[in-house]
Amino acid sequence: MAKVAIMGHGVVGSGVAHILRSNASLIARHAGEPVELTRILDLRDFADLPYADLFTKDSADVVDNPQIDIVVECMGGVEPAATFIERALKNHKHVVTSNKELVVVRGTRLTAIAQENGVNFMYEASVGGGIPIIRPLRQCLAANHIQRIAGILNGTTNYILTRMRDGGVDFDVALAEAQKLGYAEKDPSADVLGWDARRKICILSHVAFGAPLDDSKIPSEGIDKLTRADMLYAKELGRAVKLLAVSQRVEAGYYAYVGPAMIPAGHPLSVVDDVFNAVFVTADMLGDAMFYGRGAGKLPTASAICGDVVDVVWHKNGVKAAEAYQDQADALDAGTAVTRLFVRVKGEENGPEEQLVQKQLGDVRIVRLLRFPDEFAFITGEEPFDALQKKIDALAGQLEIRQRLRYDF
Ligand code: HSE
Repeated sequence: MAKVAIMGHGVVGSGVAHILRSNASLIARHAGEPVELTRILDLRDFADLPYADLFTKDSADVVDNPQIDIVVECMGGVEPAATFIERALKNHKHVVTSNKELVVVRGTRLTAIAQENGVNFMYEASVGGGIPIIRPLRQCLAANHIQRIAGILNGTTNYILTRMRDGGVDFDVALAEAQKLGYAEKDPSADVLGWDARRKICILSHVAFGAPLDDSKIPSEGIDKLTRADMLYAKELGRAVKLLAVSQRVEAGYYAYVGPAMIPAGHPLSVVDDVFNAVFVTADMLGDAMFYGRGAGKLPTASAICGDVVDVVWHKNGVKAAEAYQDQADALDAGTAVTRLFVRVKGEENGPEEQLVQKQLGDVRIVRLLRFPDEFAFITGEEPFDALQKKIDALAGQLEIRQRLRYDF
């Protein structure tokens, strides 16, 4: 019998309790022994629940309790979750979490403590919610060099972009809708500015390339400056606008970035809409594969957590390699990555602006939409991102730049 405690009975924690209880016999079969929910740490009262007797307000009842084998952390935030986890690991308890912020900020330390104490620190649910991605990268693709990961890793922004495209609404309207539906938080900064996706691509870079768990050097742009006009140009160009999180292995190391990009309508990521997430992986032996599903929500996220719990129980008597790096890639400056850019500028047909753009950027493709007679867009050739940005900055002194986003794949 393996005994599990949950810290935090919010949306995800209550989902874990639900799955452990309702699928108990299936879980026991897969884990090789019964898995019993034994304790739940939460400061709130849940007297009406059928498992109300499991609740405690004292963290020691979980982290210092010799009966508990596995602690599931669903509290969110870095503290006090990290302190509780550290104590649990030192008390030889395996820990499973969905908390991406905690993984990025304290993951290196907590993994080391887990290894020193012969237990596992697992976080499948921290990226892509219910989508299996960390275990596939670590285990199923262990015989491959991963070459590139490109993901739509944030459901809130993907919903907003889908509404802007299909509903013809502006960013603010789509954001308000997302907030009404409970997708976006009252302070939506972490989602719309790309920080959430940055944490997730940081974790995937760590798993695939042995990159440090530090997202501070991953450049990220959000979707807050996108407009309906961008969606119309994308349609004209046979492309979709997505918030992409990319991590690419190159000979000298790897680079990662997050930002809105126009991707071809034929690319599988272009049809990932609404709140769905997807991770498109390119590996040297496998080729391309895409992992698609619900990147957030009570049961999808709890499903991934419970998968980690089963894995831990199955391997309880022989600890899995907590950190089976395939690689140890150095972080490179994402500004050196070759890309193309889509840029919108003010300027009438055959005006001096078109000539200026062509003079300074060479052979660009110009696109005009009849409904925007006072502007045009152009698509650059392929060059390192920083070199292109420098040219756009130089143009900005001479004409009005209305938009600039990546034109990837
Ligand atoms: N805010 C996140 C999203 C939740 O919208 O995808 C899951 O990490």
